[in-house]
Amino acid sequence: MEIKSILFVCLGNICRSPLAEGIAKNYIKEKNLNLVIESAGTGHWHVGEKPCDNSIKVAKLNGVDISKQKAQQVKKSDFKNFDLIVGLDDSNISNLKNLGCKNPLKLGDFVHEGACVPDPYYFRDFEEFKNVYSMIETCVIALIKKSKEF
Ligand code: 4NP
Repeated sequence: MEIKSILFVCLGNICRSPLAEGIAKNYIKEKNLNLVIESAGTGHWHVGEKPCDNSIKVAKLNGVDISKQKAQQVKKSDFKNFDLIVGLDDSNISNLKNLGCKNPLKLGDFVHEGACVPDPYYFRDFEEFKNVYSMIETCVIALIKKSKEF
């Protein structure tokens, strides 16, 4: 099956999945790939907000602009409209299943042997955001490369 679209899903869509979206969009532009990428949260609390300051900052340090993104909540129609739905941690996966998503994938399965991307919402230390960025970047690129084989 040719993968044409990927939705990255975390809880709030303001810290982790915006990074996955930004990194993926940058990568596919660089490689001239034809893939639709979006991100969403299972929660509604931050709908319409831009990503958190530390995510914008760490992305910018890496040449990725996520500042114009707006948080959205995942919709049931997303499960039909996207070829891959990719959660960032186990709770995202179980939330997605509870919402009716049949086969969510986990981002950490694409490099980190199933590791969850830590939720940086309560992190005080910017270094933690750098670690989260680097983990998301490695996994997103591995996923996009692998998506040609699905
Ligand atoms: P994210 O982080 O899921 O990576 O966007 C969070 C953002 C907001 C909340 C929790 C996690 N919150 O509880 O509002």
